Amino acid sequence: MRSDYCGVLRSADIDRIVTLCGWVDRRRDHGGVIFIDLRDREGIVQVVFDPDAAEHFELADRVRSEYVLKVTGRVRARAAEALNPNMATGEVEVYGTELEILNSAETVPFQLDEHIEVGEDVRLKYRYLDLRRNEMQHNLRFRSRLTTAIRNYLDTHEFLDIETPILTRATPEGARDYLVPSRTHEGKFFALPQSPQLFKQLLMVSGFDRYYQIAKCFRDEDLRADRQPEFTQIDIETSFLGEEEIMSITEGMVRTLFKTLKGVELGTFPRITHYQAMLRYGSDKPDLRIPLEMVEIKDLMTEVEFKVFSGPARDPKGRVAAIRVPGGCDRLTRKQLDDYGKFVGIYGAKGLAYIKVNARADLENGLQSPIVKFLPVETRAAILDRLQAQDGDLIFFGADKARIVSEALGALRCKLGQDLNLYTSEWAPLWVVAFPMFEENEDGSLTALHHPFTAPSCTPEELEQNPLGALSRAYDMVLNGTELGGGSLRIHDQVMQQVVFRTLGISEAEQREKFGFLLDALKYGAPPHGGLAFGLDRLVMLMTGSDSIRDVIAFPKTQSAACVMTDAPGTVDARQLRELNIRLRQKEESIR
Ligand code: AMO
Ligand code: AMP
Repeated sequence: MRSDYCGVLRSADIDRIVTLCGWVDRRRDHGGVIFIDLRDREGIVQVVFDPDAAEHFELADRVRSEYVLKVTGRVRARAAEALNPNMATGEVEVYGTELEILNSAETVPFQLDEHIEVGEDVRLKYRYLDLRRNEMQHNLRFRSRLTTAIRNYLDTHEFLDIETPILTRATPEGARDYLVPSRTHEGKFFALPQSPQLFKQLLMVSGFDRYYQIAKCFRDEDLRADRQPEFTQIDIETSFLGEEEIMSITEGMVRTLFKTLKGVELGTFPRITHYQAMLRYGSDKPDLRIPLEMVEIKDLMTEVEFKVFSGPARDPKGRVAAIRVPGGCDRLTRKQLDDYGKFVGIYGAKGLAYIKVNARADLENGLQSPIVKFLPVETRAAILDRLQAQDGDLIFFGADKARIVSEALGALRCKLGQDLNLYTSEWAPLWVVAFPMFEENEDGSLTALHHPFTAPSCTPEELEQNPLGALSRAYDMVLNGTELGGGSLRIHDQVMQQVVFRTLGISEAEQREKFGFLLDALKYGAPPHGGLAFGLDRLVMLMTGSDSIRDVIAFPKTQSAACVMTDAPGTVDARQLRELNIRLRQKEESIR
C-alpha cells in the first residue's frame, strides 16, 4: 500500500512521489490550505492539501484526529519560515495529490497529548490508543532492540534458548502462586511458574550446559512501581562455571547492552558484600550515585543517659547510626526536617534526631539540635570526629532495631539524594555478594534469602549448626538502586539440598511431595551449576528512563493486579466451573 514511512522523509527525498499510510495526528485549516500531520510508527510528517486538488481537498477537509489515511504526493522543501527544527521531518512536507480515507475514527476518549491529565486508568482502559503515543512507541521499540541484542550476545556465548512449561508445579521464589485448576484431574491445580528455576537446573542435569530463555514469570505479591504480577526474566543457567565466570559473562552482557543501545561505557562493576551494603547504605540494593553513607555509632552511645540512643546501643539487635549531609545546614529548611521525620516513620522509625553543625569547634554552643543537651561533650566530639563533620554540615540519627534503622536511614539517604540532587553519576552498577543463606522471621522460623536451591559457602554440618551465620554463594546485580538481577551457584548434592529443606522446616514428606523430582535428579549425575535471572522489564525501565514498569510493558496490570481493558480477571460461567469441579463459596453479603 505504501512506498515510505512518514517519519523517515528527509531533504534527500525532495521531489520524490511517495505514498504514505498513517493516522491523523492533527489537522489544521489555514485559510484555504489544509495541513495534516500524518503519523506512523516511524514518526510524523506534514501533508498539505490545497484547493488545486479539489476532490481530495474536500476529503481532507472532512478528516478528523485518528482517521486512517492513505496519501500520495510529492515531497517538497518547506519554506524558510516554516522549517521546524523540533521535527525529524521538519525540513520537508508532502504536497498531497491523492487522499483515501481507509477508516474513520470516533472522537477518541483522550487526546494523545493529554495523557497525563486523564490518568493511568483511562490510559490502560484504552491501551491500544495510549500505545500510539510517541513515548510508548519508543519504549516498546527499545525493548525489541534490547531483546535482539540480548539474544545476539547469548548466542555468541553459546547459550541455547530452551522453553520451559507455564503449567507446572509451584517454584518457591517467595511470592504466592497463581493457580490453574485442572479439568482432567479433579481437585488438582497447576501453578504458573514464579520462575523457571527448577526446570533450568534440570536442563543442566540433562547436559545442555548453557541455557537461556526470555521467560514469563508469575508472582502474586504486593505490587510497586517496579513490580508486575506477570513479568519477564532473562533467565540464564550454566554448568561447570564458578561465580566469577557467571558474573563475568552476565556483567559483560549488561555492559554490551549499554554500549550498543545507549553508547554508554559502564566499566567494571564494583562489588560489595551484603554486610557492608547494609552497614553503609542500609540497603541490599544501594544506589551508589548518591555519595552519602551511613556511619555506625552504636559503640559511642552505650553509656549516654539519652535512653532513645542508649537502649538500642545496648541491645544486640539494635543499631545506632548517622548520616552526614555536607553543607546540609543551609540546604534544608525546618519544614523539610519535620517532613523527613514523618518520612522515616513510614519505615517504623520513632523519630529522626539531627545536629546542625554551625561551628564545630564550639561543642557547647556551636551545635544546634534537639538532642545535644542529652549528650556529654566528649560524646559530641567523638560523633563529629567519626563523621568527619565540618561547619555547615547536618547530621541525621537513627536508633532502633537494626532492621528499622537500616531501612529508615537507607530510604532517607535515597530521598536526600533525590531532593538535593546529589547524584554524582548517571549510572551506578554494582554486585552485591556474600548474602546470608537465611533470614529469621518474627516467629523464629527461617526463610531462604535467595531461594532454597542456592548453595551455601559452608559444609552441610556447619550449616546445620549455625544456619543464621551461614553465607550463600548468591550474587545480585544492582543498578541505580534497583535490583536488576539475582542468581547463585546451586546445590548439586542431594544431601546438602535436604539439609537446606530441613533447616527451612520442610518435612521429609513435603520434600518428596513438592521436590521429589529434583531430589531424584540430583542423584543421577547433576553437574555443578549456577546461573542468574535479570528482570527484563526493569532493565528496559532503567535504560529508557521510565518512572514505572508499566510504561515498558505493552499490556500491563494495574496496581491491584487487574487488566482494566479486558476486565480480567473475570467471572466464568457455571458450566465451566462445574467441569472443573469447583464450587464458589457464597460471599456472606449475597446470602443475606
Ligand atoms: P529473583 O526472584 O531475584 O530470582 O528474580 C530475578 C529478577 O527478576 C526481577 N523480578 C521482577 N520484575 C518485575 N516484577 C516482579 N514482580 C519481579 N520479581 C522479580 C528482578 C529480579 O532481580 N530463579 C531466580 C534467579 C536465579 O537464581 O537464577 C529468581 O527468580 O529484577
Ligand atoms: P524525644 O525525647 O522523644 O522528644 O526525642 C528527642 C529527639 O530525638 C527528637 O528530635 C526525635 O525526633 C528524636 N528521636 C526520637 N526517637 C528516635 C529514634 N528512635 N531514632 C532517632 N531519633 C529519635
